[in-house]
Amino acid sequence: MIPDRGHPDRLDRAVIFLGPPGSGKGTQAIELAKKFGVPHLSTGDMLRDHVSKATPLGTQAKPIMERGELVPDSLVLKMIAERIERPDCRHGFVFDGFPRTEAQAKYLGELLKDHGYKRPFVIHLVIEPSTLMRRLTGRRTCKVGGEIYNIYDRPPKVEGVCDNDGGPLIQRADDHEEVVGARLQTYEKQTAPLVAYYRRRGLLHDVDASKGVEEIGRQILLTVQNSGREIGRG
Ligand code: AP5
Repeated sequence: MIPDRGHPDRLDRAVIFLGPPGSGKGTQAIELAKKFGVPHLSTGDMLRDHVSKATPLGTQAKPIMERGELVPDSLVLKMIAERIERPDCRHGFVFDGFPRTEAQAKYLGELLKDHGYKRPFVIHLVIEPSTLMRRLTGRRTCKVGGEIYNIYDRPPKVEGVCDNDGGPLIQRADDHEEVVGARLQTYEKQTAPLVAYYRRRGLLHDVDASKGVEEIGRQILLTVQNSGREIGRG
């Protein structure tokens, strides 16, 4: 599928959120995708959906995710290649949790080029690791619409109930303290090297992720808009 590149306010590219578990990738990616009217593509959500439906992919992924490790590249890449073929991706998309290894980043680079997208923007959420445990163990997610809360810093109006759609709020299986530690180690070992990978290519934008959600969102929007102007529309 070839993207439609005709409109000046369109994203027409991938925005990639890079940062450790709990840095706010999902929170910010959902909002940015809404602003540009493009899909939010979370590989974590896609995999959890497979797990809950007990598909063959979900059955393979479940024990790996429960250990806080990465699902093999081959499985994730196939899922992504299929997803960006859908018509809703033709004006771009926002990745949350992908790519996560150098092999995934290389594959994505080729995929985007083959499909005629512009060079991606990479938003790197920079944060002190010491704050992440509280964010992750306090996270609750709406089972219906996926809205993200935090019992300490971003609580819903009514405990356990989503403000938007009244759906029940659930805690992710991998947000318990023991698994969070393993996820943070996996990030440092396998995903953090992508910071240098994208910086070398001039695609990386650092954003201070220790501020409030709205302030970070403003910073990201400005970064995306300014970079779009700087590198032109081609
Ligand atoms: P995934 O679902 O991608 O999880 P993650 O990367 O560990 O990231 P999180 O979703 O935990 O955190 P986030 O940065 O999105 O933070 P959020 O916005 O929710 O992956 C899960 C698993 O799937 C992996 O471990 C792996 O097994 C597998 N997987 C997924 N993708 C894969 C891939 N590409 N390859 C291989 N395996 C893959 O925020 C967290 C909390 O903080 C929330 O409560 C939120 O309200 C709060 N918060 C957010 N921003 C702020 C702020 N500014 N101030 C205060 N609180 C805040």
